Amino acid sequence: MLENSNTLAAQIAAFPIENKVQLEEFRMAFISKKGAVSLLFDEMKNIAPENKKAFGAEVNLLKNLAQAKFDEFKEVIENQEDAADFDATDFTLPTTPNQLGSRHPLTLTRERIIEIFTRIGFNLSEGPEIEDDFHNFTALNFPENHPAREMQDTFFLERNPDIALRTHTSSVQVRVMENEKPPIRTLSPGRVYRNEAISARAHCMFHQVEGLYINENVSFADLKQTLYYFVKEMFGKDVNLRFRPSFFPFTEPSAEIDISCLICGGKGCNVCKHSGWVEIGGAGMVDPNVLENCGIDSKKYTGFAFGMGVERITMLKHQIKDLRLFTENDVRFLRQFKGSL
Ligand code: PHE
Repeated sequence: MLENSNTLAAQIAAFPIENKVQLEEFRMAFISKKGAVSLLFDEMKNIAPENKKAFGAEVNLLKNLAQAKFDEFKEVIENQEDAADFDATDFTLPTTPNQLGSRHPLTLTRERIIEIFTRIGFNLSEGPEIEDDFHNFTALNFPENHPAREMQDTFFLERNPDIALRTHTSSVQVRVMENEKPPIRTLSPGRVYRNEAISARAHCMFHQVEGLYINENVSFADLKQTLYYFVKEMFGKDVNLRFRPSFFPFTEPSAEIDISCLICGGKGCNVCKHSGWVEIGGAGMVDPNVLENCGIDSKKYTGFAFGMGVERITMLKHQIKDLRLFTENDVRFLRQFKGSL
């Protein structure tokens, strides 16, 4: 008997219980009415009366052993189930802060320019960055083989010199004039390319926003007032504006747009080369040839156009000294432009 009960005790100890199913198997094997321990109780009647007491004690021991193991593992398994059911969300925990991104300074400037002009009725137009000669040059009154084309160092396609990366977004305005009837009031922001060595002050790729207004009786005064409004909105009411006579094949008369230096307020400093003025773009009255090239009656309509560099305006506004910072994607630089302009 002793031997028997030792084996049974070992079996009880060794029985693996890791889940509910095994727990039930354990109960069936040892504790239930047909279990090994209960069967031993049934043996009682075959035991000689003088041994009954010892036998009974031993079987009770086994019964307690099995019951104790059952109770212990039942609790463990129920706890595991509780843990699995538990919703891990703890609403009292402090939140993990979101990492705020920042918008690129050029995006901020472009959006601000767009916002200012759309407020006075300009819409937006876009066009291809890979352009043909007609839209980038010919329609804009650049004569064939004329040195004026050299003004804008162009990336031509070697296999087909009729195709180039656009040097300005005036090409988009040509497309608008071809497809729409005046009045036209449109803004074309976009990326442009020029074959220049990359330095702190020049890049082979930069961004422009150009504007075009065509209607009956549009005058230089309208151009000046529009840009006056823009400059005050963009840079503040204390900033002055001046037009300097210039030349572009597509405008006549043409002007360079200067604003009073933001750094020294016009007194003269390194940024404005002690002139008190800095250039932000070009402008002029659309040359009648351009209107005709695009199918617009130049006797009925006149228009003005202007163009400015987004990098240039951003540099002036934030006193950024190196153009290359815009394309290096150094997060220490970019992180500084969280808000709007
Ligand atoms: N397209 C000119 C440039 O890129 C800018 C400009 C636009 C000048 C419209 C005058 C009128 O240099």
